[in-house]
Amino acid sequence: IPDEEDVRKEDNIRSLTMLDHFGFECLPHQLVNKSIQQGFSFNILCVGETGIGKSTLIDTLFNTNLKDKKSSHFYSNVGLKIQTYKLQENNVQLKLTVVNTVGYGDQINKEASYQPIVDYIDAQFEAYLQEELKIKRSFIDYHDSRIHVCLYFISPTGHSLKSLDLLTLKNIDTKVNIIPLIAKADTLSKSDLQKFKFKIMNELVSHGIQIYQFPTDDQSTAQVNSSMNGHLPLAVVGSTDEVKVGKRVVRGRQYPWGVLQVENENHCDFVKLRDILLSTNMEDLKQQTHTWHYENYRCCKLQEMGFSDVGPNNQPVSFQEIYEAKRQEFSDQCQREEEALKLKFMQLVKEKEATFKEAEKELQDKFEHLKRVQQEKTMQLEEERRQLEEEIRDFYKMKAASETLKTQVCTNIKKD
Ligand code: GTP
Repeated sequence: IPDEEDVRKEDNIRSLTMLDHFGFECLPHQLVNKSIQQGFSFNILCVGETGIGKSTLIDTLFNTNLKDKKSSHFYSNVGLKIQTYKLQENNVQLKLTVVNTVGYGDQINKEASYQPIVDYIDAQFEAYLQEELKIKRSFIDYHDSRIHVCLYFISPTGHSLKSLDLLTLKNIDTKVNIIPLIAKADTLSKSDLQKFKFKIMNELVSHGIQIYQFPTDDQSTAQVNSSMNGHLPLAVVGSTDEVKVGKRVVRGRQYPWGVLQVENENHCDFVKLRDILLSTNMEDLKQQTHTWHYENYRCCKLQEMGFSDVGPNNQPVSFQEIYEAKRQEFSDQCQREEEALKLKFMQLVKEKEATFKEAEKELQDKFEHLKRVQQEKTMQLEEERRQLEEEIRDFYKMKAASETLKTQVCTNIKKD
């Protein structure tokens, strides 16, 4: 049988080779190329008690050694340690920001422990909102530090959630995607772990705490994600140590009775967590952060600033109308404040004037009094002088009379 090529040659038919993709089917490739060029960023917040295994888990997830030193148990307040790393896998670059709590759960009074976490999440939203409100925005090189996921580390007590866990989770559940994890799950037996997971989920539901729901509307991830929802909270074990199991070298924790393999799905849920975070749901976590949590923040913030989509009579109002109204309101308020300030100033001036006048009057009275005293003294002195002069005159008179008398007596004596 002659092959196709020979037939074509005989019929003188030109054969065409298939070119690469063309037409708008190339759009996804453009996006992929652009994304690879730009690189990816991902921000993780790890909340959990000191020494619960936060850094070890992050190291295990990203197969690195990011941890520097152990935190102390003696901080008076909860703090946050923010570290950004540039990681590369093949030609994909990832800018990873890890925010770890420091001193969480170490204080006697734990009431304010969640506040620094809430403040940090809000501050990142505020920074993004400020960038959005700028006239000259630069989102191309803007480092978006909004938290995409919060890994909440639950102590493996086997009992229930602590009040601090509930308090913190309740305060952040509308601000961030929460994935609850049972830390150091190797310390719990299989049956205890199942019971603990069930108890935690019941507690979360009864306290109305919303955790991240793995989306099931995308066909490619629906199956994985719906099964993931049933595994929450994920029981994780972290370790970067390499242990020999038979002929294989695996990452795990060696115990006197055996080896716990971190990447063995029968031993713990680490692989499930890694798949969620890195393979299937990273984009969804970022999208949820932007379209749900950030939108929530932005909406509340703009409402606080007096912006609204509808006017007082439920009529739609434009941004410009609200801006003009706000500007007018602000200018009226400024004017009112200016008037009030002027009035206050005038009153102060009047008060000061009255005080000065009173002081002036007092001074005048004092001056008059002194003048009178002075005049009296002068008159008294005048009187004394006049009396003295009179006395002098009398004295001279008397002296002249005595002189005359003396002369007469002498003349009489001579005559005799
Ligand atoms: P700070 O940053 O200091 O608050 O600690 P951390 O929460 O980052 O804990 P870290 O990862 O430093 O781990 C503390 C200790 O727990 C280390 O000795 C780890 O080897 C150990 N550890 C970490 N993960 C696990 C785990 O899954 N199981 C067990 N049994 N130990 C673990």
